[in-house]
Amino acid sequence: AMVEKQGFKHFMLKEIHEQPGVVRTSLDAYFNPAESTESPINLGLPADLYTDLEQIQIVACGTSWHAALIGKYLIEQLAGISTQVHYASEYRYAPSPVTANTLIIGVTQSGETADTLAALAMEKERRQGKEPKYQARLLGITNRPESSLGHLVPHIISTLAGIEISVAGTKTFTAQLMAFYALALDLAARRQTVSKEILEKIINGLRQIPKEIEATLESQERLTEHLAHEFAETQDFIFIGRGINFPIALEGALKLKEISYIHAEGYPAGEMKHGPIALLDAKVPVVAIAIPGSVYEKVISNAQEAKARDSRLIGVTPVNDGEAAEIFNDLLPVSHVEELLSPILTVVPLQLLAYHIAARRGLDVDQPRNLAKSVTVE
Ligand code: AGP
Repeated sequence: AMVEKQGFKHFMLKEIHEQPGVVRTSLDAYFNPAESTESPINLGLPADLYTDLEQIQIVACGTSWHAALIGKYLIEQLAGISTQVHYASEYRYAPSPVTANTLIIGVTQSGETADTLAALAMEKERRQGKEPKYQARLLGITNRPESSLGHLVPHIISTLAGIEISVAGTKTFTAQLMAFYALALDLAARRQTVSKEILEKIINGLRQIPKEIEATLESQERLTEHLAHEFAETQDFIFIGRGINFPIALEGALKLKEISYIHAEGYPAGEMKHGPIALLDAKVPVVAIAIPGSVYEKVISNAQEAKARDSRLIGVTPVNDGEAAEIFNDLLPVSHVEELLSPILTVVPLQLLAYHIAARRGLDVDQPRNLAKSVTVE
């Protein structure tokens, strides 16, 4: 069926607004109802994919690579499996040593990205004929299970975003995050690295996310539009975050670069003092993702350091937070949410900010220059 904009000015805006539904669909597909007696997670993957698993290698590009970084955080922190994330274009020519009992995951929204397919094909080939424990265990995470990726790997987690038209990925990223929550929790449940109670608590938390995104969308639409007005001529942006929200800083910067052509960098907040802080002055706004949890005070203090260099500070932080509200010049408030689940929420205002800045600049939001929806050349 033809996909329509349904009253939205651009597909990107429509797709941003589809995210609560994408999370709901993913919850229904990946998790069994609370009252069910089966395992709470249902990805339909065979048990032998997980047997004696010692490590995980993930290959991806762009936004899918950012989702993979969050996946690594979840898998390592919840399931305790050492995980590495590679740019597919790098991995292909400098792969990690062939290790035993290793799961290789390719993450590609389109299932057609040449770099990612080539990295997976290389991995498959170099493990052929080796003794069983070295054999390739390949898993794909894709929004297009019928794609080339689907033919290359035997196992797939389908992300459930529906067709995405805008070149800048938004709802497919959220869908990839949902796949990683399910995978990390599945691994944790099977390995018993988290208790049943914690598992239930995380899944219940995920079930609240759709309405939290709805609330965020409702409150942010005007705020980001207003901010976009002020930043339409800005030349550089820095996004900072730590821990599970560091990849969101990268994603916020990538969205802005792709569609507004404004130079932007995402940085782990603690690294700013090792160089990039020299860039800061009144002309360079800093967007800080500050969510209460393991790195909250650290992010706030890194943000303060930026403010001391005259940067205008924009905070993606929970509403009604006294301390944060005071240090930030502008707030993009999100609901109070567990740090572990926060990336699905914190990415939303950053998508909207990039969208509104690009729209304000009169750019072709859905079809940015020099980019294609899937990059089928290496
Ligand atoms: C996302 O906004 C980008 N257009 C781009 O980085 C994209 O994520 C990348 O090309 C990977 O695409 P894939 O997920 O289809 O493999």
